[in-house]
Amino acid sequence: MICVGVVGCGHWGPNLIRNFSTLLDSELVGICDADPKRLDAVRPFYTGVPCFRSFDEMLEQPGLDAVCIATPVATHYPFALKALEAGKHVLLEKPMAQTSGQCERLIAAAEKSDRVLCVGHVFLFNKAVRYVKQQLDEGELGEVHYFYFTRTNLGPVREDTNAMWDLATHDISIAMHWMGELPAKVRASGHTYLAHKCEDVVFSELVFANGVVAHLHVSWLDPCKVRRATLIGSKRMLVYTDTDPIAPVTIYDKRVDQPDFTDTQAAFHMSIREGDIRIPRLTIGEPLKAECQHFLDCINKKEKPLTDGQNGLDVVRVLERLQESMESNGTLLDL
Ligand SMILES: NC(=O)c1ccc[n+]([C@@H]2O[C@H](COP(=O)([O-])OP(=O)(O)OC[C@H]3O[C@@H](n4cnc5c(N)ncnc54)[C@H](O)[C@@H]3O)[C@@H](O)[C@H]2O)c1
Repeated sequence: MICVGVVGCGHWGPNLIRNFSTLLDSELVGICDADPKRLDAVRPFYTGVPCFRSFDEMLEQPGLDAVCIATPVATHYPFALKALEAGKHVLLEKPMAQTSGQCERLIAAAEKSDRVLCVGHVFLFNKAVRYVKQQLDEGELGEVHYFYFTRTNLGPVREDTNAMWDLATHDISIAMHWMGELPAKVRASGHTYLAHKCEDVVFSELVFANGVVAHLHVSWLDPCKVRRATLIGSKRMLVYTDTDPIAPVTIYDKRVDQPDFTDTQAAFHMSIREGDIRIPRLTIGEPLKAECQHFLDCINKKEKPLTDGQNGLDVVRVLERLQESMESNGTLLDL
């Protein structure tokens, strides 16, 4: 039984608290939030579980094996470092930290203390995302030409980070998982409309070494909640809609065939193929539950997580370069 404490009881933390209190391999032994109102909101559901206003106090709890950190990104590095140095395993929410230097220091601290460091890139535990990866690896779409993500909604608006660091983190981790590598070049443009310093809308582009381009549109200032990726291949096209639990993936047998060689004008035309539309049967479950279970399994089996520190660092490196591009008018930058 792994004893877990969770810090952060805002929007996301209660989902982690619920999972660690119900999974068979874990026992919830501490809940922490600096805001007493947030603690009061969760306390009634977890009677008997000690609540703390200070992370340091929770860390001193006897028998604590692991901590899960779901606080604003500025706290990720100091909290995770403290926990690893105290010999605790860490599940750290995304993005892993504010700089790649911080990520590197966390990776070194986890190695030194021989503890598991797992980053909350929850979409890599999503069965639809994994199914798409399988389709790509098996060549079902043919050669991938390009793909694009839309991740928009009205709020939640953050004051501590921009829409890219908050939302595009997910799409970057998915894109790199699908392509099996980091992008070679990146660029971004961001726009601030609300009265704060953070970009509310960001358009980013990841260019992979083989020329495949992924476009990312993220916004918390949009009338519609959209969570969608569209992939265009030479044989087929695919749409992944995260907000549709019944039919998250649709595969279109559509393409444009081009003649290899034509010597007459009449023979030269692109032929449009309008084939079947297939919706594979997928049971998605709760990706966060799978992520929490994976964290516990890695502790028990002494294994590296799928979303380990290196994976978290890779995403932060891309975010840093995109931020640089955004600050230099969308220049295309080498990674
Ligand atoms: N994986 C996902 O899909 C997903 C979704 C949402 C948020 N997140 C991540 O989870 C983290 C939290 O996001 P959120 O939306 O819950 O934010 P939030 O602002 O709603 O909640 C953060 C909580 O942390 C508490 N807190 C802040 N500083 C603290 C401190 N020093 N000590 C103790 N408690 C402190 C706040 O009081 C608040 O209750 C972020 O890193 C975010 O990126 C991940």
